[in-house]
Amino acid sequence: MSSRISARISAISESATLAVDAKAKAMKAAGRPVIGFGAGEPDFPTPGYIVEAAVEAAHDPRFHKYTPAGGLPELKQAIADKTLRDSGYQVDASRVLVTNGGKQAVYQAFATLLDPGDEVLVVAPYWTTYPEAIKLAGGVQVDVVTDETTGYLASVEQLEAARTERTKVLLFVSPSNPTGAVYPREQVEAIGRWAAGHGLWVVTDEIYEHLVYGETEFTSIATAVPELGDKVVILNGVAKTYAMTGWRVGWLIGPSDVVKAATNLQSHATSNVCNVAQVAALAAVKGDLSAVARMREAFDRRRRTMVRMLNEIPGVVCPEPQGAFYVYPSVKALLGKELRGRRPQTSAELAELILEEAEVAVVPGEAFGTPGYFRLSYALGDDDLVEGVSRLQKLLSEAV
Ligand SMILES: Cc1ncc(COP(=O)(O)O)c(C=O)c1O
Repeated sequence: MSSRISARISAISESATLAVDAKAKAMKAAGRPVIGFGAGEPDFPTPGYIVEAAVEAAHDPRFHKYTPAGGLPELKQAIADKTLRDSGYQVDASRVLVTNGGKQAVYQAFATLLDPGDEVLVVAPYWTTYPEAIKLAGGVQVDVVTDETTGYLASVEQLEAARTERTKVLLFVSPSNPTGAVYPREQVEAIGRWAAGHGLWVVTDEIYEHLVYGETEFTSIATAVPELGDKVVILNGVAKTYAMTGWRVGWLIGPSDVVKAATNLQSHATSNVCNVAQVAALAAVKGDLSAVARMREAFDRRRRTMVRMLNEIPGVVCPEPQGAFYVYPSVKALLGKELRGRRPQTSAELAELILEEAEVAVVPGEAFGTPGYFRLSYALGDDDLVEGVSRLQKLLSEAV
């Protein structure tokens, strides 16, 4: 008898970040004062001028109809202009595909590039969606594991050790979710040249490009390494830069054949992205970066507070992240210790105990391919952040 759910779809794991979020929300709904560090989204509303553009678009009958599957021409042009402004990467608008959020860009990039058995080098810890998108495309993920001792940065030597004859793609993510690591320019260049030297494709996720702190600079591998030629696919979107997670607009930039093939796929799967959301994204990418500058200031303040407070907890080691809005501390030294009558052996068990005992939600490293760590987002209000980490300090200092 055939099974009710296909093997391909049964193999998809539940999103661990969403699972933590769901449990925290259920506890909150039951009246418990849960503080959530799980969310991967800015706590700010979308800037007013972007919302206004969408309101106007909703009244315009032109946007009540289907539009080209690949995106509104004026948005594609604005994305090409913005990419030149922010990454120094020159691209014709015909090489832009507007997608339903960065997630659809991730999915379509792998679906378009991979044949069954093709290997993709993925630096761990990695964002939870990549493995599923790679698997669905029939690809084989090969992990390149990093840790806090290198600030979660992979070296060329590590990548080379993981490369085989089947390696087709290097996935490059900087700034990183979940670690906040940002590759310095020299390392971006070295990795890019290595990839080009072996004829690999580079899929680069630049969605956190504007969230870098202090002296740190974002370097686009596509621009820094022209030797990659046309074997580079850029993924990006408006979600994180403009506090627009709910609007669902992202994009993929690649060579003409990849964009054409991915557009064909999208034309059958979802057609054009909601026009009202596309017009909102147009206002965002055409506008200046003052909104993200304000958010960055708040995130930077929270980042420093959080790193300081977490490092005050015995057994927690938290490197200072240079980008995105996450910290990724090691909690390995706490595992196996006694805490409130229990002895959590894994970061997943410890996260569950913390949620129950301190009413604080963190995402365990199991979700990102590296058990023994937590991911905490600092995209939440300053008071909640201090209260939440204070609860962690109090609870975890009881571990013996
Ligand atoms: C690294 C990374 N890429 C892409 C995305 C996709 O964002 P969205 O689909 O909301 O545009 C996210 C969201 O969490 C992310 O963290």
